[in-house]
Amino acid sequence: MLRMIVAVGSLLLGVGAVMAQQEIAVQQDNLMRGQAKSLYNVMLKMVKGEIPYNQAAVDNAIKELEESVPKIATVFTPNPKQDVVGSHYGASQKIWQNKADFDSKIPPAAKAIADVKGKIKDKASLRVAYTNINDRCNDCHETYRVKLK
Ligand code: HEC
Repeated sequence: MLRMIVAVGSLLLGVGAVMAQQEIAVQQDNLMRGQAKSLYNVMLKMVKGEIPYNQAAVDNAIKELEESVPKIATVFTPNPKQDVVGSHYGASQKIWQNKADFDSKIPPAAKAIADVKGKIKDKASLRVAYTNINDRCNDCHETYRVKLK
């Protein structure tokens, strides 16, 4: 009887650990998706003319990016060792083999955002800002993001 309780107990613990790992991966993915919303769903769509230029929306997107990008280092501290189920992109294990280099990709992105804050006034300046920020996002993705499908 005792053996059975122990067996069931450790099984539940195992399930709990797997769920916690998935939660970490989801949290990391959500952080990225939030940044994508500001940069792609707002800024890029305006650059492309898919939605009209809107100063308040631009300012808000920059504010959200400014708050979100510095969180990358902490949110990616734990290694979930698994991908978000059904996700198109995953985190490379290289992040946790070289966390200092991964973290070093964050300040340039933060700087690109700070540099344009309050300076975007029209579609032309938005285009320049978009490109400068996106290049820094990609500097990290090139090495540390894996395409899953
Ligand atoms: C320091 C590294 C780093 C920086 C900087 C960074 N990312 Fe990421 N990003 C990642 C990693 C790692 C992944 C893959 C894991 C994941 O999806 O959570 C990722 C995934 C993504 C994804 C795919 C999410 C999905 O699964 O569908 C998007 C979109 C994205 N990032 C947008 C951005 C944008 C926009 C910026 C710049 C504002 C940015 N990222 C900056 C590391 C970074």
